[in-house]
Amino acid sequence: IHHLLEENSIANKFVAQLRDTSVQNDRLRFRRNIERLGEILGYELSKSLSYQQQNITTPLGKSKINLLQEEIVVCSILRAGLPLHTGLLNYFDDAENSFISAYRHHPDNDENFEILVEYLASPSLEGKILLLADPMLATGSSFVNVMGALKTMGKPKAIHLVSVIAAREGINYVSREFPENSHLWIATIDEELDEKGYIVPGLGDAGDLCFG
Ligand code: PRP
Repeated sequence: IHHLLEENSIANKFVAQLRDTSVQNDRLRFRRNIERLGEILGYELSKSLSYQQQNITTPLGKSKINLLQEEIVVCSILRAGLPLHTGLLNYFDDAENSFISAYRHHPDNDENFEILVEYLASPSLEGKILLLADPMLATGSSFVNVMGALKTMGKPKAIHLVSVIAAREGINYVSREFPENSHLWIATIDEELDEKGYIVPGLGDAGDLCFG
């Protein structure tokens, strides 16, 4: 199941600046816009989690409020997942954290590539809510390969993929490959992938735009 942000909201400005060649080379703004979308998507997905009523003591009395009742693990896919990770962590204060690498390796220096996972640091995921962050969902191979590598860490109760721009083809692929009880939260959808597997119109290479 995928969840797209409403067509009209302040988030559109952040998406526009990420895409716009006249603005996107401001690295600090680029990272901060991804972070802000991480905050917004995190807020949206928080509405689908489980809550339990708690009593809070105020200076003047007692107040009841529903507080999050889940163990959250935020996992980002290096490199471009990092600012999205920060955005999620800005709201999920107590989350545990995982980091995993995935990159497109071109063995023959042509357009053919395989996804290599070389680094993984993660707590157990057993019974927890996994938020998997990567701002670009192009073919979907990164998400799928990363999920394969994370299997050794236990079975999450639910998985929430968090991305900024997703191509239709990648959405279909992850929908087929991810287990039930997986959700995808995205800011915007692009219809096309080019022959190199880049999202069109997309925004270019998010990792490079974030970090050079
Ligand atoms: C880009 C992007 C995603 C991946 C998406 O990463 O940040 O991780 O490609 O493509 P996919 O859905 O087809 O797998 P890249 O390999 O450029 O690494 P980087 O983040 O370190 O730049």
